[in-house]
Amino acid sequence: MSSETPIDLRGVGRSYAGLDRPVLDGLDLCVGAGEVVAVLGRSGTGKSTLLRIIAGLDTAYVGQALLGGHSLRDLSDTALARYRAESVGIIFQSFHLLDHLTAAENVDLGARFSRKPTSESTTELLAAVGLEGRGSDRPALMSGGERQRLAIARALRNQPDIVLADEPTGNLDEATGRVVINLLAELGRKRGVASVWVTHEERLAAAADRVLVLENGRLEER
Ligand SMILES: Nc1ncnc2c1ncn2[C@@H]1O[C@H](COP(=O)(O)OP(=O)(O)O)[C@@H](O)[C@H]1O
Ligand SMILES: [Mg+2]
Repeated sequence: MSSETPIDLRGVGRSYAGLDRPVLDGLDLCVGAGEVVAVLGRSGTGKSTLLRIIAGLDTAYVGQALLGGHSLRDLSDTALARYRAESVGIIFQSFHLLDHLTAAENVDLGARFSRKPTSESTTELLAAVGLEGRGSDRPALMSGGERQRLAIARALRNQPDIVLADEPTGNLDEATGRVVINLLAELGRKRGVASVWVTHEERLAAAADRVLVLENGRLEER
């Protein structure tokens, strides 16, 4: 990726067949390197839609989506796949870990489709998320908080420029959620990552640098 603003969306819209109004409608969002932005919105306001666009999983938008200076809609399929594999890390509410693999193997899945050289080893990443020495454990035997730490290590495996989190504390209790989200913010800032978290949970706002509200297809400062 170039030295451009990692995330630069201008006038982005997205409609789905069967819905009478666009889900996203003239949405603007700029996120710089090392910045953590929390997007709050009620269920159904388009938060996951927004993340899928930034992640390069949905190019059926209108408007301009520049990610690292590249217009995703104009990339070839190969270049888009490479963007997804090498520039973006994603964390989900339900962790999306593979229970038949060890913790270390799950982290390495983050590098599976990437040819990008990285300086941080799996062992170092596990230590960075507080799972030192747990590499051979199975995720099924871990607590919710540990599983989300593991998912964070996997998301960071490729040294992405962008980290996206979709309701990352949705399956965690209050105290565990706070610890995990502070860890995610700290790791993102330290690595100069542009972070966007989407959630309906107010509690995520506290750890972010900037809080935006998604309503009527647009983002507003609050
Ligand atoms: N693939 C799809 N096809 C049709 N409608 C969809 C699709 N994905 C999402 N929607 C609709 O778009 C709206 C926003 O969905 P979503 O982005 O998942 O919201 P959120 O993550 O904020 O809950 C909802 O009304 C949802 O039903
Ligand atoms: Mg959602």
